[in-house]
Amino acid sequence: MNTTTQPTVSHKPVMVGQVLRALAVQPGGRYVDCTVGGGGHAEAILEAASPGGLLLGIDADPRALQAAHSRLARFGDAALLVEGNFRDVQAICSSRGFDPVHGILFDLGLSSLQLAEEGRGFSFQMEAPLDMRFSPQQEITAADIVNTYSEKALADLLWRYGQELHSGRIARRIVRDRPLETTTQLAETVEKAVGHRYRRLHPATRTFQALRIAVNEELDNLAAALEGSRDLLGHGGRLVVISFHSLEAAIVKNFFRQESHDCICPPDVPVCVCDHKASLKLATRAAVRPAPSEVEANPRCRSARLRAAERL
Ligand SMILES: C[S@@+](CC[C@H](N)C(=O)[O-])C[C@H]1O[C@@H](n2cnc3c(N)ncnc32)[C@H](O)[C@@H]1O
Repeated sequence: MNTTTQPTVSHKPVMVGQVLRALAVQPGGRYVDCTVGGGGHAEAILEAASPGGLLLGIDADPRALQAAHSRLARFGDAALLVEGNFRDVQAICSSRGFDPVHGILFDLGLSSLQLAEEGRGFSFQMEAPLDMRFSPQQEITAADIVNTYSEKALADLLWRYGQELHSGRIARRIVRDRPLETTTQLAETVEKAVGHRYRRLHPATRTFQALRIAVNEELDNLAAALEGSRDLLGHGGRLVVISFHSLEAAIVKNFFRQESHDCICPPDVPVCVCDHKASLKLATRAAVRPAPSEVEANPRCRSARLRAAERL
């Protein structure tokens, strides 16, 4: 019996009621969960869409899909699970005749399952190789970045994706200490670099976030996926995104803002030359936050922000 690799943790889906409302789930509807993970949101969507509802769930992580498979087994053919990158959402759905759809959900980042899973390297609190890939198909691991990037490239990455104020100091120390092969080696190196400059946050938090975003090309994938999703939605269909940090939120906000306006010419252009036509209408004016009671029960959701738009 293998007792070392299976996490005992389960992933609690965040803001489930708000997600169902934002998606305006209706019986018989067709939905895409681009980050199906352990299947928590997917299960709630399928229940609300019954009878006759269908869901296509995508995840880059085959182990997450296994969990979703067990959780959604009772829905039979109404749940279709696909291993893939959500940046290809349009091709994945269209090639399976899942087009147009009534709603698409993104619950970004990583799940509690992935954070707790041994050997994945997402957590600085557990000794593991510096991997951090969502998908085993990806070639570049966090160790590749940490051990091959120049000091300047590392500092830029930590600044850009981790908003790390001590990026230069940490990059210098990484270059001095490498090769670094494990999460705890990296966490110790960061601690040596920044000392106790962070009071409430573990000093390695931002470094780990930056590396995970870079390894999985999270921001580029999100931008591409939003475009593809918009084109999959039928008239009145809903696009719902839950983000967990300001870099993701900015991409979603900008996309929604741009796509909810006709002309997107710069303000100093006197006559419109862009010919851009709005394709979305905002369904949430401001980001929706989890209720205080949910944050108390599941502190992981405290930074969740939900935004939704409707296809015109
Ligand atoms: C926060 S979890 C989703 C949890 C899920 N909503 C649930 O209820 O269990 C995010 C999931 O998105 C997946 N993911 C992240 N980036 C992805 C990408 N570019 N393509 C496909 N899946 C991705 C991760 O592997 C992870 O399983």
